[in-house]
Amino acid sequence: MNQDEMKQAVAKAAIEYVVPGTIIGVGTGSTANFFIDELASIKGKIEGTVASSVASAERLKGHGIPVFDLNAVDGISVYIDGADESTKHLHLVKGGGGALTREKIVAAASEKFVCIADESKLVDRLGKFPLPVEVIPMARSLVAREIIKKIGGEPVLREGFTTDNGNIILDIHNLDIMDPVKTEEILNDITGVVTNGLFAMKPANTLLLGCQDGVKVIE
Ligand code: A5P
Repeated sequence: MNQDEMKQAVAKAAIEYVVPGTIIGVGTGSTANFFIDELASIKGKIEGTVASSVASAERLKGHGIPVFDLNAVDGISVYIDGADESTKHLHLVKGGGGALTREKIVAAASEKFVCIADESKLVDRLGKFPLPVEVIPMARSLVAREIIKKIGGEPVLREGFTTDNGNIILDIHNLDIMDPVKTEEILNDITGVVTNGLFAMKPANTLLLGCQDGVKVIE
C-alpha cells in the first residue's frame, strides 16, 4: 500500500466508529478528506456533522452531508481526524493544515476522539514536525520571544497564511518534546497564544494506523 492507500484504509476503518443517529465531528486534512468521502456512503445514517474548518465544511456539503454550527448541537459522539505526529500514548501534534484551534474545540466537545493516520505519523517523541501555534497577530513578536525563553526551539511565521479565525501561525522548529502535557500547558499560558497543536492533555482515545499489512488499532 502506498501512503494514500493507507490513508484511505484508515478512513474506511473509521466508519465503524461512527455512531448512527448522532452528530459526528469531522477533522481537516488529506486523511480527513478520505474520511469525508467514506462518510458520504452512510450519510443517511447520521444526524449530521460539525466541521473543524471551512474547507471540510465545504467538502461535507458537497456530498450533501448536513453541517451544523457547534453552538446548534447538544453534543458530538465521536471526532474523527488525522494528525501530523502521534506517539503510542496517543499524544498528538496537529495543525499542519492550520485548523488546530477548531480541531481542539471540536475534539473537546466530543465524547471520543478517533485519530486516523498512516504509519509515517507514528513517532517515539514528538517535535520533529514543526509544532503549530495559533497567535493573535499583534502578539506575534511577544509570543515568539516567550516561546524561545520558555521551551526553546525556533518559532517561524507561516508566511501568507491566515487561519479561519483571522489569526497567524508560528511553527516551532527544532523541538524535542520530552513532556507533551507540560509543553502544552506552558504554551497555553503565554499571553497572545490562541491554541497550540499539542493534543496531550486530552489525547486521542483510539489511533487507527494505516500500515503496509493493514490497519492497526492502538488504544
Ligand atoms: C490540520 O490542521 C491538521 O491537524 C491535520 O489533521 C493534520 O495536518 C494531518 O493532515 P494529513 O491528513 O493531510 O496528513
